[in-house]
Amino acid sequence: MKPFFITTAIDYTNAPPHIGHAYEKILADVLARYQRLRGREVFFLTGVDQHGQKVQQSAEREGIPPQEFADRISGTFLSLWKTLGISYDAWAATTAPLHRESVRAILSDLKERDWLYKATYSGHYSIRQEQFLTDKERGPDGEFGPEWGEVVLLDEENWYFRLSKCSEWLASFLESHPEFVSPGFRHTELSNAATKITGDLCISRPKSRLSWGIEFPFDSNFVTYVWFDALINYISFAGYGSRSEEGAAFRRRWPCDQHVIGKDILIPAHGVYWPCMLHAMGFADEEMPKLLVHGFWSLKGEKVSKSTGNVVDPAALAEIYGPTALRYYLMRDAVMGQDADFSEERLLLRHNTELGNGLGNLVNRTLSMTRRYREGSPNLVPLPADLSAHLEADAVTVKAFIAEMDAAQIHAGIETMVELVNRANALVDSAAPWKLAKDPEQADRLDAVLATLILSARTAATLLQPVAPDAANEILRQIGLPAISLDEETAIGTLPPGYVCGEPKPVFPRLEMQETGAPAA
Ligand code: MSP
Repeated sequence: MKPFFITTAIDYTNAPPHIGHAYEKILADVLARYQRLRGREVFFLTGVDQHGQKVQQSAEREGIPPQEFADRISGTFLSLWKTLGISYDAWAATTAPLHRESVRAILSDLKERDWLYKATYSGHYSIRQEQFLTDKERGPDGEFGPEWGEVVLLDEENWYFRLSKCSEWLASFLESHPEFVSPGFRHTELSNAATKITGDLCISRPKSRLSWGIEFPFDSNFVTYVWFDALINYISFAGYGSRSEEGAAFRRRWPCDQHVIGKDILIPAHGVYWPCMLHAMGFADEEMPKLLVHGFWSLKGEKVSKSTGNVVDPAALAEIYGPTALRYYLMRDAVMGQDADFSEERLLLRHNTELGNGLGNLVNRTLSMTRRYREGSPNLVPLPADLSAHLEADAVTVKAFIAEMDAAQIHAGIETMVELVNRANALVDSAAPWKLAKDPEQADRLDAVLATLILSARTAATLLQPVAPDAANEILRQIGLPAISLDEETAIGTLPPGYVCGEPKPVFPRLEMQETGAPAA
């Protein structure tokens, strides 16, 4: 079977990571871990976008080479992904020679097949911001505002990609492949945007104004436009164009099953440029990737933005509250595709109630009672009807979990785990093992109740595993059983002969509000 290929956007290296970057990476990591739990081989690619004007300008301000600047910021991303347990298989850093050569080979091939041409563009150019301006940048009075500084009319030669040649193809492709983008509501928005393609895409920058990019192979006065370079990461780092083993790996991996991106980069980059680029390169309609578009996190209702200081530092949050609480909260409180507002109170609340009082309490009570009443080893007895029904309900919950996670509805997947835990905690209260333990005639019932609770706790830990792997694995270690298998018909199972549970230790210690030092980044 083809490996499950999942990627995220590659992050700009002009500033350190903020909560939005962390959200996207955790989201992809959860989906990757979920696929692995299903028994699927996974190829999870992510990385950093190191070229472009912003990096060049930031490096100039510090008086250091752009590579040094990009490497330093890339380091802050790498260290955060380690802290947060992001389980990527390949790292895309766009200054890597492999990527540069891939971009250059693609440019040469496109030129040979007449997809590229050189032309002169005349337009308004902001000297301060070093960019061409369009009518969108004009203020209500029709003028370019003071933020643009001096604006001059400039003629500039550049290389263009024949995007307009793809417009018909894109429109019909989108119509026949609504699954190209999810959630579904994005499809209309994208189809509308596709009908508005008129011109071609300028894919070069003259070195005289931007040198920090990949040089054109056939025209050394130009470097590649950063988006054209960045999008290619999805294939270059997956082995595209290699004749060696990596080339074979690419053919096995592609197409990408989930490009996880934020809503701001759907149109035009991923929804228009990227499929058209692939189409021009010769990829068939069936070989187009699938986009999974998430919403945006805000802070106190405002856009997260470094320039206004409205940022939360995910590294600080992970250090204070731990990666488990942060991962759980971000996955639990955002509905796929919708925006969400960050709140430290809610982070603590979700952790302390659903994980601490919910799952943590279930595991703690179950293991403590099993050790107290049965020295960790319940006798294996047939289950009475009510307890069999309890485990059957767990199996139904697991199916619901699978359906939600297959649809990338992670918050709803977590909800199924919460339901399962609530049901098990209710069983503890109603079955009251402490009463059963006092009555020798109820010995079999006590064994059956304890076995049922252990199996339910194991299932809950399995469902938590993609979202909070460290906590889930610690629970499974304490329970003394491996995760249940989600690869075929779900079996909740029975306790193996000779089973002895481990010692319970708190996995979700209660969190109190701390001075995070956030906002900061
Ligand atoms: N470098 C480009 C992507 C190139 S992909 C070939 C870029 N970088 S970015 O650093 O600005 O954004 C990286 C990802 O983070 C994007 O998917 C973007 O949507 C996402 N987010 C940026 N801010 C965000 C929030 N406030 N909330 C959620 N996701 C956010 O775009």
